[in-house]
Amino acid sequence: MPSIRYSNRTLSCDVGENLRKVLLRSKAPVYNGVARIVNCRGNGICGMCTVRLRGSVSWSSTYENALLRLIPGANSLGLRLACLCTVHGDVAVEKFGGTWGTDCDSQRHFGRKATSGDLPNQQH
Ligand code: FES
Repeated sequence: MPSIRYSNRTLSCDVGENLRKVLLRSKAPVYNGVARIVNCRGNGICGMCTVRLRGSVSWSSTYENALLRLIPGANSLGLRLACLCTVHGDVAVEKFGGTWGTDCDSQRHFGRKATSGDLPNQQH
């Protein structure tokens, strides 16, 4: 059973579960501000469920990469869309601030300021 580290919490889920659903079920914030109301509910359209991941999740699709390219800063921060990620094993999740989750100056998790040089270590 994979564990999901988010902030100072450790969540658990089954292999193959959707990361967004796991986070929402555990009341872990996936969205910031107005995005809590106007998001696409996990349909992979709005781009507001961005998270940075380290661990074992599904590869990003061509579609997800294209959508992330439309969000300034998302690629340089190595973000993924939680609604398009399937959990394969243990994962550490970071959520940055701002509507699009790209404001690493207001990072709320892991107690340190992120930099664009912090690339994710993604395993599959
Ligand atoms: S919830 Fe809209 S793209 Fe993920």
